[in-house]
Amino acid sequence: ADALKLGVAGLGTVGASLMRILTERRESLATTCGRPIEVVAVTARSRGKDRGIALDGITWYDDAATLAREAEIDVFVELMGGAGDPAYSAVKTALGRGLHVVTANKALLAAHGMELAALAEEQGALLNYEAAVAGGIPVIKAIRESMTGNTISRVYGIMNGTCNYILTRMEKEGLTFDACLKEARRLGYAEADPTFDIEGNDTAHKLAILTSLAFGTAIAPDDIYLEGISNISIEDIQAAADLGYRIKLLGVAQRTESGIEQRVHPTMVPIASVIAQVDGVTNAVAIEADILGELLMVGPGAGGNATASAVLGDIADIAKSRPGAQRVPAFGRPTDALLPYRRAQ
Ligand code: HSE
Repeated sequence: ADALKLGVAGLGTVGASLMRILTERRESLATTCGRPIEVVAVTARSRGKDRGIALDGITWYDDAATLAREAEIDVFVELMGGAGDPAYSAVKTALGRGLHVVTANKALLAAHGMELAALAEEQGALLNYEAAVAGGIPVIKAIRESMTGNTISRVYGIMNGTCNYILTRMEKEGLTFDACLKEARRLGYAEADPTFDIEGNDTAHKLAILTSLAFGTAIAPDDIYLEGISNISIEDIQAAADLGYRIKLLGVAQRTESGIEQRVHPTMVPIASVIAQVDGVTNAVAIEADILGELLMVGPGAGGNATASAVLGDIADIAKSRPGAQRVPAFGRPTDALLPYRRAQ
C-alpha cells in the first residue's frame, strides 16, 4: 500500500522522540498499520541543531506555513505549541487543504478548538489530539469514544506533570521550588515558557478540552478559576502532611444544577487517596459517569516518549482509516450539535 506521508512541524522534545520512534520501528509500524509511515517534510526553529536524528532525504521547510501549504503530505503533525501563530495558521491551512492534522497543542485547541474542529468536519479530515491532554494517557478516546452514551458528572485530576514533579520532590526531598523547576525543564517536561505550567494555565487548557468532551459543550477556556503553585512553600507542604494531606494541583470540571464549574488550584487531598499517591511527572484523570461508574486513569503526563506515544497512536489511526470514511468528530459530536456553555451560578 502507499506510504502515509507526514509533515512534522516542531522538533523539540516530542518531535525528536517521534522521529526516533518512527525510524526505529519503521517495519513493525508498517505491518501494524498495513502501510509504511514516512516523514517527508519537516520544519523547526533551527535547522542546524543536533537532535540525534537523521533528516536525510526529508525536505526541510523554513516555516510551518509554507510546509502546511506546499508539502506533498497526507498528515500535518503540529508539535510546535503555542495558541497563536505559527501553529494556528499552519493548522488552518493544512485542514483547509483537506489534510489530516495530529497535534499535541492544548493551548491551540483551548483557544481555537471549535473553529478547527468545524473546519476538519467540513473537509472530511481528522483532527487528532490525544497527546494534548495528560501526555500518554488515552483520555480523549476514553471520553469521546469509549464512554459514548454516558452522562458525565465530573472530570478532575492531575494534568500537569511539571507541577506534580515539583510538588513531589519538594515534599520527598526537601528541594526548593526553583531547583525542582530547573530539573523539570532539563528533563523536557516543562512548557517552553514554564510559567504556563506553574501558574496553572497549562492545566486550564487541558481542562477546557476535557470539559467540552465530557459535557458536550463548546470550549470555554476563559471561564476557569485559576491559581497555580508558585506560592506553595515547603512549609505549606509540611503543614498539609502533618494534617494527613498532600497538596496537588488539580483541574476540576463538574456539572451543577445551574451549569458547569471549572477550576484549577492547589488542593489538599487525603494521603490515603489514590490521587495523593500519584508522584512525579505522572498524571491522573478521574471521570465520574452514570453508566460506567468511576474511571481513574494514571500514567505518564509529559516527556518526549510518553507524549510521542500518543501522537503515534493518532497517526496510526489515520494510517488505518479509509479515504471518505465516516470520521469521529474531534469533540465527540458534530460541532453544530455542541451545547452552549452555561457557567454555574
Ligand atoms: N508541560 C506539560 C506538563 C507537558 O508538564 O504536563 C505535557 O502537556
